[in-house]
Amino acid sequence: MTLNVAILGAGNIAQTHRNGYVKAGANLVGFVEVNPETRAKRELEWGAKGFASFAELLENTKPDVVSVCSPNAFHLPLTLEAIAQGIHVLCEKPLSLSLEECQKMIEAAKKAGLVLQTGHHLRSNWYVQQAKKIIESGELGRITFLRLRQSHDWGGSGRVPDTFSTFARAGGGTLLDNGCHLMDLVRFLGGDVATVFARVATLAYSVEVEDLALAHLELKSGALASVENSWSSVGFEEGFWVYGTAGTLECSFAGGQPRDLKHFHRASRPSDWGARDCTTYKVGNEGGHPTQIAAFLESVKNKTTPICTGEDGRESVRLVLSAYQSSKEQKVVYL
Ligand SMILES: NC(=O)c1ccc[n+]([C@@H]2O[C@H](COP(=O)([O-])OP(=O)(O)OC[C@H]3O[C@@H](n4cnc5c(N)ncnc54)[C@H](O)[C@@H]3O)[C@@H](O)[C@H]2O)c1
Repeated sequence: MTLNVAILGAGNIAQTHRNGYVKAGANLVGFVEVNPETRAKRELEWGAKGFASFAELLENTKPDVVSVCSPNAFHLPLTLEAIAQGIHVLCEKPLSLSLEECQKMIEAAKKAGLVLQTGHHLRSNWYVQQAKKIIESGELGRITFLRLRQSHDWGGSGRVPDTFSTFARAGGGTLLDNGCHLMDLVRFLGGDVATVFARVATLAYSVEVEDLALAHLELKSGALASVENSWSSVGFEEGFWVYGTAGTLECSFAGGQPRDLKHFHRASRPSDWGARDCTTYKVGNEGGHPTQIAAFLESVKNKTTPICTGEDGRESVRLVLSAYQSSKEQKVVYL
């Protein structure tokens, strides 16, 4: 069955959605883009019809599924409108700006019997999936610490794009933008979180939202986690490190260097302080975007639970909002 797809918001991340749908063999019936220049550019690039509003798109086409790729503040109205029309939704992260808004989206999808997937694509990344398998196999022993980092400097442009620079459109800065992915990974790899303590700062740009954030989490398992986000360090860096009593995982991707996953363990030299054995996994640099799109289409076709549900999206927003509360009140937040 070929599904008809529309994309709502045709900016930067929409390109990865479009690529993912093309790769998966879906049929792009149109897209919505409020900016006329971007609309015209995407029409040429994608060979698909662009519309100025969702209402206009619905008058002309009938998508089975949509990707919501608008600024964060519009995730809620676009998702609710799609669900009201009987359309399945893959919504970019963060799912929305408050827990109440996330809940509305979850309940609307549930009531309508539609799939609502949250775009935390890192879950679908091959290295993350591999790491999860290793953790679940018990090979790392007891998990004691997770470190997660995502940082960049907006490609060296010296400015934060409008979509991300104000509370009204974005809801927060790097902690919400990048941190929600990592909060999701903490849950995906380490389980539920018990407490959050965080600090945020704005050091590099004249914007109202934060461009630097550090959150310390305590997991229900007793393990600790550190989530680092920044728009104020040079180049793009994304990585996770998982420490257990019997092994360590390291997956760091910086400056376009090849990505791999290293599994450090002790096999041959059990009492040598300096040396450790290493197994390296490598499949290339493809992120989780195409895989999450293929998984979304499969869950729609097979009526199965998506890889990252609305509830997962809501929980990562909960952790980010708890981190903001912690930073503001300078105290530990108990969940
Ligand atoms: N998963 C990821 O790795 C990832 C990466 C980047 C952005 N995102 C998310 O994707 C979303 C978009 O980010 P972006 O970087 O593509 O921003 P962007 O500014 O490049 O694109 C957003 C586009 O939406 C358009 N738009 C604004 N209001 C609209 C509306 N009501 N209906 C339709 N289109 C509308 C804008 O004109 C713009 O072209 C954000 O929610 C962001 O958090 C996710």
